Amino acid sequence: MHSGPRPPYDFRSDTVTLPTPAMMAAIAGAALGDAARGDDPTVNALERLAARLVGKDDAVFVPSGTMANLAALLAHEVRGGEVIVEATAHLYNSEGGGLSVVAGAVPRPLPGRRGALDPDDVRTAIRGGADLALAPTRLVCVENTHNAAGGAVLPLSSLAALHRVCRDAGIPVHMDGARLFNAAAFLDVPLAEICGHVESVWFALCKGLGGPVGAILAGDAAFMQRARRAVKMLGGGMRQAGLIAAPALVALAEPWPGLRRDHALARRLADGLAAIDPSLVDAAGVQTNIVNCFVDRVTGDATAVAGALAERGVLANGKRNRIRFVTHAQVDEAAVEAAVAAVADVMRCGARRPDAVEVIR
Ligand SMILES: Cc1ncc(COP(=O)(O)O)c(C=O)c1O
Repeated sequence: MHSGPRPPYDFRSDTVTLPTPAMMAAIAGAALGDAARGDDPTVNALERLAARLVGKDDAVFVPSGTMANLAALLAHEVRGGEVIVEATAHLYNSEGGGLSVVAGAVPRPLPGRRGALDPDDVRTAIRGGADLALAPTRLVCVENTHNAAGGAVLPLSSLAALHRVCRDAGIPVHMDGARLFNAAAFLDVPLAEICGHVESVWFALCKGLGGPVGAILAGDAAFMQRARRAVKMLGGGMRQAGLIAAPALVALAEPWPGLRRDHALARRLADGLAAIDPSLVDAAGVQTNIVNCFVDRVTGDATAVAGALAERGVLANGKRNRIRFVTHAQVDEAAVEAAVAAVADVMRCGARRPDAVEVIR
């Protein structure tokens, strides 16, 4: 009998995973202290390990990725200047405008290719301070893997080329590495090799890694001094945070087999969807744990399709033209098969918006 996850199978995000028994045991046994005073040994151990993994001088444990991005923007002192971002980046589209509201910067969105900024476009877009009418470029932000681009991994060569352009212009590069470990698993390189091409980076502990809460922001010593001040200002100074750092340490102990399994499940899901209709997915382009299913090419409204999938025991994010499926530790092959069967059924029967009169097809 199947002993894995049970319906509803939840593909909405890799943030939905619950702590494992080993994580719960680590929470119960965690050594604690006042983290905001630097007294929590578990947080300190997590920060030391994280800094070593990404090859930076220092790292700080923060409650969320959004706070990591904000602290990085503040530490890079972007106020009054422009921040170049890829046009579909999470930082620009999905963080409540904090880039402008909190960090005081003007976003300069540039179109990317599968989430990757073109180094030549960035060279052209960078503004120096000579023209008093222009807000000077202060920072370039990249996202790796790229969420909206279906978990696409930034090629190392393009990242290196972008870094050269920015270094020549004296502009730092910040990486939103919410799913940095997925990128490293796909590229099969150490995290530090990717992070050598950016001045600052953060990664999530509560997405593909499966920890319950938090993110790590890392950079060189001078940047981190400013970043730690920014975290404190943003309200990220935590107290006995060893309670959430302890399961993160468990998550970091052996992340690679689980991430590779998630990627294999995503490919399997993409192949299954392509077998229903090849126009639904770019199956060959699925590199990590995100599969974008472009239902508009076959049946119309993604919100209606997501609702119809939910009725069939499969949860996924439906937005505009696509359904996003994310694989993670708490879905398995049976869940993937159920998702493919549910999509096939919805394609066959059509999907109805709760308030719609006509069946979409
Ligand atoms: C690429 C990316 N950046 C940033 C975030 C924000 O992270 P958090 O939800 O921890 O604030 C997310 C969240 O899903 C994300 O996918």
